Amino acid sequence: MTEARRTTASRHVPVLSQDVIGYLDVREGGTYLDCTLGLAGHASQIARLLGPAGHLIGFDRDPRALELAGERLRELATALGERMPRVTLVGEAFSRVADFVEVSSLDGMLADFGVSSMQLDEPERGFSFQTDGPLDMRQDTRQGVTAAQVVNEMDESDLANLIYEYGEERRSRRIARAIVRARPVTTTGQLARIVAGSAPTMKGDRIHPATRTFQALRIHVNRELDEIKDLLEAAPRLLKPSGRLVVISFHSLEDRIAKDVLKDLTSKGIWNVLTRKPVVADEAETARNPRARSAKLRAAAMLAPGESAAGKTPEYQDQGSGRQLTGFAQLKTAKVKKAIGAQGGGKKPRLRK
Ligand SMILES: C[S@@+](CC[C@H](N)C(=O)[O-])C[C@H]1O[C@@H](n2cnc3c(N)ncnc32)[C@H](O)[C@@H]1O
Repeated sequence: MTEARRTTASRHVPVLSQDVIGYLDVREGGTYLDCTLGLAGHASQIARLLGPAGHLIGFDRDPRALELAGERLRELATALGERMPRVTLVGEAFSRVADFVEVSSLDGMLADFGVSSMQLDEPERGFSFQTDGPLDMRQDTRQGVTAAQVVNEMDESDLANLIYEYGEERRSRRIARAIVRARPVTTTGQLARIVAGSAPTMKGDRIHPATRTFQALRIHVNRELDEIKDLLEAAPRLLKPSGRLVVISFHSLEDRIAKDVLKDLTSKGIWNVLTRKPVVADEAETARNPRARSAKLRAAAMLAPGESAAGKTPEYQDQGSGRQLTGFAQLKTAKVKKAIGAQGGGKKPRLRK
């Protein structure tokens, strides 16, 4: 691990971690999925509680995050020795979990949305306007369009709509016009200056004027909202009866999706919402970890057979064919696809241990 990355990893603090563990109801011997490994902060805490009969599955579409999480979990394995659970890491978008995880196999699922401190701290990733770097913003650096392509190629009115919708930025038209006039825009610093110049800080604004525009581009580049919808729709199929789902969101667009899906599936008698209001960090945590300031945690529990919520009978039917992963391995996408392809049909693939 490089020194810079070691520093990021060592000062990374997972948000709302006590609530995460509590709402996940982590039990020894269980199977838990962390959909957003990041720096394996939450994942390490879960792994410590699982014991040798347990299984931790982790997803991250960022190859560097996956590598770093793997290093941290290997260090944990050395520390825990025989108490370490089985670990499987998958370098894929979490919208694809249903392609890899067995139906009704999970005791709990966690998703801590958004950007990791490592992604923000590395200027070359292009997520931060605090440091200058190429306008990239892709979490999965292997595919997709970069933020530079979006700001330089998108039609002005589409760009304004994108900034309005995903950034909830009222001055989106002005900002889009300024961006189009300044093309080509190639770095985060240049973009931040263009936005600040066209829509300066307003009285009472506590955030940098470019915050909303950067959020909008990041959501678009990474298809963040579609990813969340796909994940939450797949979740009930993957969880065991009484299995837990915990999601942490960082802005209102993410939280609205989580809230609506949880409510909808509760009204259909699929699960019970455990958090009537979202759980937020207390003052001590926000003082220690500024990222926790905007975090909102929501949790739900799948209903057990015969159990009902609000007088409803569970109506969820399994319609998918799950796939199982085995082994403490960092699975390369191509290998996973090959293994699944080679099996064909609905059979379970045997993957590298
Ligand atoms: C906020 S960080 C998670 C931090 C983690 N809980 C920890 O304690 O270290 C979010 C991570 O999720 C990953 N991520 C975000 N959206 C994803 C998606 N759709 N599929 C897979 N990984 C995703 C990001 O690459 C990032 O590493």
